[in-house]
Amino acid sequence: MAKPRVVVTRKLPEAVETRMMELFDTQLNQSDTPMNRAALKAAFAEADAVVPTVTDAIDADVIAAAGAKLKILANFGVGVNHIDLAAAQSRGITVTNTPDVLTEDTADLAMALVLMTPRRLSEGERLVRSGAWTGWTPTQHLGQRINGKRLGIIGMGRIGMALARRAKGFGLAVHYHNRRPVPPAVEAELEVTYWQSLDQMLAHMDILSINCPLTPETRHLLDAARLKRLPKHAVIVNTSRGPIIDEAALAEALKAGDIAGAGLDVYEEEPKVHPALLPLENVVLLPHLGSATLEGRIAMGEKVIVNLRTFCDGHKPPDRVLPDAAAKPK
Ligand code: 8YV
Repeated sequence: MAKPRVVVTRKLPEAVETRMMELFDTQLNQSDTPMNRAALKAAFAEADAVVPTVTDAIDADVIAAAGAKLKILANFGVGVNHIDLAAAQSRGITVTNTPDVLTEDTADLAMALVLMTPRRLSEGERLVRSGAWTGWTPTQHLGQRINGKRLGIIGMGRIGMALARRAKGFGLAVHYHNRRPVPPAVEAELEVTYWQSLDQMLAHMDILSINCPLTPETRHLLDAARLKRLPKHAVIVNTSRGPIIDEAALAEALKAGDIAGAGLDVYEEEPKVHPALLPLENVVLLPHLGSATLEGRIAMGEKVIVNLRTFCDGHKPPDRVLPDAAAKPK
């Protein structure tokens, strides 16, 4: 039997690419140049499966170009906000993702920003590199203490919980907002406090971390009005998706001193960063490094392979986003 034709849109770790070559008729992207719309459409027209990443805009127009053979999008990553799921569903295309294997790495990065931002660590690093550091003083670069403060987590899923575990170890009192509270046993283990009202929670937090997925409901969840609800000394950390915060409003709030800082790993229009954020000292800017460990990326690739292989063998792939894994079989 002919091997399924699989198009991979970006360069993946070597071990993943080699295994994919063995199992499938795989088109790799050795130059790692992001595929433009025409290239994506051409891939959709000829492939049995496409392996996209967060940098591919898989909108209804691209999905409309899918040939009759295309049956699965095996996304390399957890977030699927770059894929028009309604369009994929209407074409009967299965969509899978790579949960679990990047939880700890992403929580580590969120915790790093929770530490870096109130302690002004990237400002300090920039000072040393600039050559302008003149030595220790009793009052230079004073940040805010972490221990004993309140961390508010928006989105208590896998990554939110992993962050809560870390935060507890640093002496933070963890609060959270989620559509539903987590089970009482988890709440007790993590010692977290649930707020049904995000608006109410914001006013009481010292540090806020965004850990919910980007959906139509969470786009600009933190708009100008909500940012104003935070105390002036509060800092915001975002390792989820940029558009959950209104970036222009965030820059305004930072400039006006309405909040004290922000630690960002994601942006509204990656790789562009809102120009008003760039000159601000009280902002930590990272280039979407949440899951960027070699082990994590290989494990993500393995998940892609398992999802593709089980699907091609006629089984339900384990990490189904579409059709909904939780939906009852008909
Ligand atoms: C991935 C991420 O590296 O998995 C996600 O949702 O944001 C990242 O950590 C990226 O999405 C790869 O497609």
